[in-house]
Amino acid sequence: MSQLEICLKQIEAIKGQFQADSASSKAQLSIKVVEDLRIKYLGRKGLVTSLMESLKTLSKEEKPAAGKVINELRQGVEAGLESLKVEADASALDASLSQYKLDISLPTQNLQGSLHPVTLMRRVMLTEFRKLGFTVYDGPEIDLDFYNFEALNFKEDHPARDMQDTFFVADRVATILRTHTSNIQIHAMMHEKAPMRVVAPGRTYRCDSDITHTPMFHQIEGFVVDKNISMGDMKGIVDRFLKQIFGQDLSIRLRPSFFPFVEPGAEFDLQCVKCRGAGCRICKATGWLEIGGLGMIHPNVFEKLGMDSEEYTGFAFGFGIDRIAMLRYGLADLRQLFEGDQQFLSQFPIQP
Ligand code: PHE
Repeated sequence: MSQLEICLKQIEAIKGQFQADSASSKAQLSIKVVEDLRIKYLGRKGLVTSLMESLKTLSKEEKPAAGKVINELRQGVEAGLESLKVEADASALDASLSQYKLDISLPTQNLQGSLHPVTLMRRVMLTEFRKLGFTVYDGPEIDLDFYNFEALNFKEDHPARDMQDTFFVADRVATILRTHTSNIQIHAMMHEKAPMRVVAPGRTYRCDSDITHTPMFHQIEGFVVDKNISMGDMKGIVDRFLKQIFGQDLSIRLRPSFFPFVEPGAEFDLQCVKCRGAGCRICKATGWLEIGGLGMIHPNVFEKLGMDSEEYTGFAFGFGIDRIAMLRYGLADLRQLFEGDQQFLSQFPIQP
C-alpha cells in the first residue's frame, strides 16, 4: 500500500468517526459537547489537524490530491460542527426559558395596596348587620331639603338648617349636601314596603372643622319598620352589634336626647374600649364613649309618607364610622383618616 493510499484510508476513517461522534452527541447535546468535538477534530492536536502533518510524508506528486481530500474533510467537519452548535444553542435557550418562568400578571411588591381604614371598618360593620338580617341601602349625598330635613320632622326654624351647619349647593336653596345619613330613611320608606330592616353607610357633610370634626365624615344609618317593634328590639340590635365589633364584655347605655324624627330619642354610649369602664384619657374619665343617636321613629315621619303610625312602629339609629374606626384601630387623630399618608395607610390589611 502506498503512502497516499494509507493517508486516504485515514481520511476515510476520520470522516466515519466524525459522523458517528456527531450522531451520538445529539443524545446529550450542549455547547460544551460541541466545543469538545471541535477540539477533538480541529484543535491544535486534533485528528484533522494531524492529517495535515502527515502530508509531509507524501511525495510532491501525491500531496495535492491528498491535500484536496483533507480540505474537503475539514470543511465537512466545520459545517457539521456549525449545525450542531445551532442546535445546541436552541436547546440551551429552551432550557433557560422553561426554568425562568416570568408571570407578568403578578403584582409587584410596592403596588400591593391596602384598604382604607374607613372602608375596612364599613365592610366589617356591614358584614355584622347582614348577619342580623339587614339589607344594605344606598342614597344620594346631594339631596333635597325635603329628604334631609322636612320629611324628618325638622321644624322650619331648627338650628340644624342654618347656613352654619349645612352646605348648600350653589343658588339652589332646596339642594344641599346631606348632613346625615337619615335621609336614607325617607328614600327607603318611599320605595320599599314594610317590614324593613335597612342599613345605609355613606359620606355626610357639615360646615365644621377642628381636631375632632372634618367637613366630610362617614355615618351609618340603620332602621327597622314593622308591626310591634319596641325599644327593647332597638337596644338589643345595637347592643348585639357593638359587642360583635368591640367584645362581649362591654355594655351600652342610653341617655335621653332630642332628634326631631324620633320619639323617644336617645344618645347611646359604649363602655370605654380602652379602660373597659374604669376611666381613662380616651373616655375623659367617665368610663363611657358617645357613639351615636337612636330612637323610635316619630309618628309624624310615618304620616308624612302616608303610612299608618297606628299600624307600624320602628326604630332608627345612626353613628359615625370614622369614630368607630378610630376606637377599633386605636388611632390618635381623626384627621389621619383623610390625609392620604402612605405610611399610615399601608399598615392596614388588604381585606377585612
Ligand atoms: N342623624 C342623627 C345625627 O346625625 C343621628 C340619629 C340617627 C339619631 C337615627 C336618631 C336616629 O345626629
